[in-house]
This record gives sequence, C-alpha cells and structure tokens, in this order.
Amino acid sequence: MSQEIHDHHHAHEPDCGCGCHGDQPNPFEELSPVLDRYADIPGSLITILQKAQELYGFLSVELMRYIALETHTAIAKVYGVATFYTQFRFKPVGKYLIMLCQGTACHVNGSKQVEEAVMDYLDITEGETTPDGLFTLNNVACLGCCSLSPVMMINDDTYGQLTRDKVTHILAELKEKAGQDPMDSEISAQEVNA
Ligand code: FES
Repeated sequence: MSQEIHDHHHAHEPDCGCGCHGDQPNPFEELSPVLDRYADIPGSLITILQKAQELYGFLSVELMRYIALETHTAIAKVYGVATFYTQFRFKPVGKYLIMLCQGTACHVNGSKQVEEAVMDYLDITEGETTPDGLFTLNNVACLGCCSLSPVMMINDDTYGQLTRDKVTHILAELKEKAGQDPMDSEISAQEVNA
C-alpha cells in the first residue's frame, strides 16, 4: 500500500474504514493486547476504557473513537458509558495527581482546610490542573486509611495527618523537585506514616 493512498489518514482520523492505520504508526498501539483480549467479549467496554485510561492517563476523543471502531460499538455508546462513570477522565492530568479524601473521617478531621490550603497554594479548584501542567486536584471518596485522616494521595504516595502547613510544605517540595529535575517523572516524596 502506497503512502500516497493513505495520506488522508492520520492520528486524528482513525476511522477511514479501510482498516489501516494510515501512514503513521498506530498511536494507540499499546492498547492492542487489551483489544485482542476483550474486544469480542460482550460487556467488556468498561474494562477496555479502564485499561485505556491506565495506559494514556485520560480518555481523549480520539481514543474513544478508536475504541468504538475496534470494538464495533457506536461512538455514542462509548461516550455514554465513559461519561456515566466518574472514574473516567477526559482531560490530561498533571504530573502530580492530588487525590484529596473527602470521606467522613477526613471530613471530620479537617479535609476542608486541607482542600483550601491546596487551592490557595496552587490557585486551582477541584478538577483543575495548574497551567504549568504539574498538579491536578481531585476530590475522592475514602482512601481506606482513615486512621491517618485527613489524608491525600499524590500519585502513589499517601500523606496523612495533614495540616495547612504540611500541605503547603509537601506541594512546595514537589514543585521544587519538578523545577530541578524536569525530566524525572518519578516523585520522591516520602510516605508519611502514622
Ligand atoms: S475517610 Fe479519608 S481515608 Fe477514610
């Protein structure tokens, strides 16, 4: 197949219907094993969307269109399922995803003040990402470590017994680290134990 024939087909147009992936590599190649395994199993759409979000961080329109095409599902159905569940995100998240617990124990022990501290320091509200792409703030339900309340997780690290000062300090450290080492996608924040 000549390149000219497929010039109309690029990463944003995965549904030309000819079954090719155009003249560029398939941008969603990493999803292939998931699709191979689940595409033909009825009721697997949520699983596929979950795996897709794990791989790409969020569900872009292009990604949902691709999944619809590959699973022979109407695009409206894929959108409908994805938007029904709060676990799915449709915008890129920052390098550091802050998950702020709003469960009962954390609420009683000051999660609102923690949220205010984050919002004051980063100048974003729930669901937003800082303009530098570093931090995204999400409220979540109980994180399962109520004895440490109030609690937040940032990526895979858990921070407990939070105060305004502690939150500001944690965020300042991450900011500084990102500034010093922009290529490093790992955070070194230490876990805070009870
Ligand atoms: S209520 Fe926050 S960890 Fe359980």
